[in-house]
Amino acid sequence: MSACLRPSLLPAPPPAPTWRSSLLFGVSSFSRKLITRASSTTSTTTMSDAAARELKEGIAEFYDESSSLWEDIWGDHMHHGFYEPDSSVSVSDHRAAQVRMIEETLRFAGVSEDPTKRPKNVVDVGCGIGGSSRYLAKKFGAKCQGITLSPVQAQRANALAAARGLADKVSFQVGDALQQPFPDGQFDLVWSMESGEHMPDKSKFVSELARVTAPAGTIIIVTWCHRDLAPSEESLQPWEQELLKKICDAYYLPAWCSTADYVKLLQSLSLEDIKAEDWSQNVAPFWPAVIRSALTWKGFTSLLRTGLKTIKGALAMPLMIEGYQKNLIKFAIITCRKPR
Ligand SMILES: C[S@@+](CC[C@H](N)C(=O)[O-])C[C@H]1O[C@@H](n2cnc3c(N)ncnc32)[C@H](O)[C@@H]1O
Repeated sequence: MSACLRPSLLPAPPPAPTWRSSLLFGVSSFSRKLITRASSTTSTTTMSDAAARELKEGIAEFYDESSSLWEDIWGDHMHHGFYEPDSSVSVSDHRAAQVRMIEETLRFAGVSEDPTKRPKNVVDVGCGIGGSSRYLAKKFGAKCQGITLSPVQAQRANALAAARGLADKVSFQVGDALQQPFPDGQFDLVWSMESGEHMPDKSKFVSELARVTAPAGTIIIVTWCHRDLAPSEESLQPWEQELLKKICDAYYLPAWCSTADYVKLLQSLSLEDIKAEDWSQNVAPFWPAVIRSALTWKGFTSLLRTGLKTIKGALAMPLMIEGYQKNLIKFAIITCRKPR
C-alpha cells in the first residue's frame, strides 16, 4: 500500500487553485499549509472540518468559474478523451474521444446493453455539467441523478437536460459525494468519472459509493492516481511529491492515492469482481490538445475573461503532461460489483 500523498486511507487536505499557479503566481499560504499536510499525512490523519469546508468551497468556486469556458470549447464532457495508443487525431476528434471514454469505461466494467440487464438507475457522482448522465440516459433509457459541488454546474446540467428533452430522465443537484443525498442501495450503476481525485477522504468516498449501490450493482471509478509504490518504497520520491504539490495547488486536489490503494479499499468493503487498469497511454493526447485549444484566439481570449483560478489552472497543464511522461501520474479505471 502506498504512502506518500496517501489518500483517504488518510483523509487529507486540499490545496488551492489552478494551473502552474505555484510556479508563476506563488503558492498561497493556505494551499502551502494544505499541501504540506497532504504530503506528510499518515493513515490516521484526518482533515480538519475547516480545511474540508475550505476545499469544498474552493472546488465549487473553481468549477463555477471555469465550466462555461470549458463547455464553449469542449462541449458536454469534462473528462479525458480515450485514444488508441499512437493514433494521431485531429482536433475535431477530441470530443469523440471523450465519448469513447464513456464507451470504453462501460465495456471494461462489463455493463450490459441487454434491455433486461442494462442499468435503470444511475448516479453520476461529480457530474460536471451532466454529459455522462445525458449520454447514459439516452443509451440505456435509464434514470440518472447527478451531484456536483458547483451550483453553476448543477443549474447548467438541468438546463441542458431540459433543452435536449431529457428532463424526465435526468436531474442534477448540489450534493457532496462524501455524504450523498440518497438512500442506501438505490442505484444499479454508480458512476464516478474524474471526481475521485477531488475527494479528501478516499475511504469515505468509496464507502459512500458502495452504500448507494443496489445489490449486484456496478461501481465505476475513473480517476487520477499516483503510481503504485514498489514493495521497497515507503513513499513517493521527493521530486514526485513536489510535482504533485504543484498540481494539487492548481486544481483543488487533496492527497493522491495509487490504484492499488483503491483496490484495497474496495476489497475492505467485500466488493466483488474488482478490476483495475492503467489507461495512461490511452489518454496521452488529451492534455496537449487542451493546451492547443487554450492557445487558439477564442481559447485565449475566453480564458482571460474567465478569471484567475481558471488562468492558473491553464498554466499548470504542462505539469500534468510531465507527470504522465515521468510515470508518476496514472489515469486509472477501477470497477467492481456489490454482492447480491
Ligand atoms: C473534472 S469534473 C468531471 C465532471 C464529469 N464527471 C465529466 O466527466 O464531465 C469534476 C467534478 O467533480 C465534482 N466534485 C468534486 N468534489 C466533489 C464532491 N465532494 N462531491 C460532489 N462532487 C464533487 C466537481 O464539482 C466536478 O463536477
